[in-house]
Amino acid sequence: MRPLIAGNWKMNGLGAEGVALARAVREGLGDGNGVDVLLCPPFTLIERVARAVAGSAIAVGGQDCHPKASGAHTGDVSAPMLKDAGASFVILGHSERRADHGETDALVRAKAEAAVAAGLTPIVCVGETLAERDAGRAEAVVEAQLAGSLPEGFARAGGVVAYEPVWAIGTGRTPSEADIAAMHAAIRARLVARFGAAGRGVRILYGGSVKAANAKPILAVPEVGGALVGGASLQAAEFLAIIAAAPVAVA
Ligand code: 13P
Repeated sequence: MRPLIAGNWKMNGLGAEGVALARAVREGLGDGNGVDVLLCPPFTLIERVARAVAGSAIAVGGQDCHPKASGAHTGDVSAPMLKDAGASFVILGHSERRADHGETDALVRAKAEAAVAAGLTPIVCVGETLAERDAGRAEAVVEAQLAGSLPEGFARAGGVVAYEPVWAIGTGRTPSEADIAAMHAAIRARLVARFGAAGRGVRILYGGSVKAANAKPILAVPEVGGALVGGASLQAAEFLAIIAAAPVAVA
């Protein structure tokens, strides 16, 4: 399985700096060396970033989409619109959207269905809060999110899961490698139980305070199929160093 290193720019980037960042990643990447690389800028930059990386191995993704393809939904953006702008992936159910916009598992599932219908690869985010981890409920919470957020056909459509413990996002704190390994093994088991053999092919990314300095051991953890990177993806050198730390896939 090829690792996937995805940069989630969140609500950061104006035109000139966003295009410069995408160009710098493109120039530094070369042929990519067996790693899939994805940039997820804000909606406003998708088309410009897609143009900046056109012809390279870098893919572009959105950070959310509406479950409907079109209609009276002021301010929302649909999956076909993302595709039309040059995206091939979309991040869904990020904990910041679950918290800021009250997104439920059922809504995330509907969005993932819309993404697949539009020909986008969904990256569905799951992860527990610190209170849930401290209460010993981390795996139960993540399993419930998986059950509710992943649509039928998710694995066959090439869907990706991102495990992002809420308490590790933007905090500089990360779980131990043993805790990451345990959670990723639990996620794999749920995916195989639900989707059979196709569940073995789902990439499971780790996200939460990944940076150049900690990427290598995290990316070497069994069942970690790549990283979803926030803050460190806003600096080309840092993001490129994370990509370089990914184990190269064996064909
Ligand atoms: P940070 O890498 O800034 O902790 O953010 C992780 C994240 O939320 C990626 O989606």
